[in-house]
Amino acid sequence: SNRTFTMIKPDAMKNGHAGAILDRIIKEGFRVVALKMTKLSEEKAGEFYAIHRERPFFGELVEFMSSGPIIAAILEKENAVSSFRTLIGATNPANADEGTIRKLFATSVGENAVHGSDSDENAAIEGAFFFSGLEQI
Ligand code: GTP
Ligand code: MG
Repeated sequence: SNRTFTMIKPDAMKNGHAGAILDRIIKEGFRVVALKMTKLSEEKAGEFYAIHRERPFFGELVEFMSSGPIIAAILEKENAVSSFRTLIGATNPANADEGTIRKLFATSVGENAVHGSDSDENAAIEGAFFFSGLEQI
């Protein structure tokens, strides 16, 4: 598929990096299909990250993701999922390549600035979690 889903996480929002991150995403050739700022409740954050509910960091993850506003967006580009994950870099910014969004803007493995879908199937599920069909341009 040519679509992926992203969130600018609460750490990057709080640290004033949202504009720079969106600028970078657009300069890398992603088209914005849908975009909004919102805030996840703990319940909604837990639902979004349900796949991680057995992991030791689940509580921390839910608390963090509901701690402040986020920006959610659906993005379009050829090979969107893998191309976007290359752009954001490794989960832990300490292991992320130079120039990646997480290397530039993330704080830690938990507070890592951005989300990127890990498969075409999850990109569609995650996009539909935040946006109706009518909101996708
Ligand atoms: P996402 O794009 O956010 O899904 O990140 P990812 O695919 O690179 O990582 P993964 O799906 O394995 O983990 C989801 C999120 O859980 C990460 O982005 C982190 O925010 C958080 N996370 C992962 N590992 C840890 C950890 O060891 N400690 C904490 N506190 N959070 C973690
Ligand atoms: Mg993931």
